[in-house]
Amino acid sequence: MSSFNIRALNKDDWSTYRELRLLSLQDSPDSFGSSYEKEFSFSRDEWVSRLDLDNMAKPALPLVAELNGVAVGLAWGLLHNPQDKTAHIYQMWVSPNVRGQGVGGLLLKNIIAWSNELNLDYVSLAVTTINKNAVKLYEAYGFEPYGALEALREGSALSVQPMKLKLCAIAA
Ligand SMILES: CC(C)(COP(=O)(O)OP(=O)(O)OC[C@H]1O[C@@H](n2cnc3c(N)ncnc32)[C@H](O)[C@@H]1OP(=O)(O)O)[C@@H](O)C(=O)NCCC(=O)NCCS
Repeated sequence: MSSFNIRALNKDDWSTYRELRLLSLQDSPDSFGSSYEKEFSFSRDEWVSRLDLDNMAKPALPLVAELNGVAVGLAWGLLHNPQDKTAHIYQMWVSPNVRGQGVGGLLLKNIIAWSNELNLDYVSLAVTTINKNAVKLYEAYGFEPYGALEALREGSALSVQPMKLKLCAIAA
């Protein structure tokens, strides 16, 4: 069985991050609000600053999944507003050649653990309604739909469903 390694990305990883993110936008354009055309035009400095966690106003967890040193998956946890006690998941993507082997689940588990460490109450995300594999994965981890459907992006006929996971309080 393949052994995947999950680790946080840092500024030095900007080109790996860029490559993965652009691959994901090319591979799965209907899964993300952003687009390949938009992010392809980002400068080196923009990619570096996305990973410059020390200078970011919000707590963030950019994760990469690796197989034998090769990057095969990506996901971000982000805390927009400490007051709403909710971490948000973005940019979740696993390379097609390793899907169905638990990488998506590993990325989710790491973001859930991080959210628990931050003492948050919820983890939330938005998933395109036609993306049955992703919906199935999130449901398996206890995410439930909440709120109204939203457009994937301006002008898109696709809708995303917000989903939320209630974190369990861990007894001290
Ligand atoms: C959604 C995605 C991240 C899941 O990653 P993954 O590594 O394949 O997920 P896992 O292997 O952990 O799958 C866990 C469960 O999800 C379902 N699943 C996910 N992807 C699947 C696939 N390609 N084929 C079949 N089942 C799949 C299965 O129910 C699986 O449960 P099982 O192992 O009990 O059968 C991946 O399919 C992907 O990158 N899709 C394109 C981008 C995307 O949709 N991102 C989500 C944006 S919200």
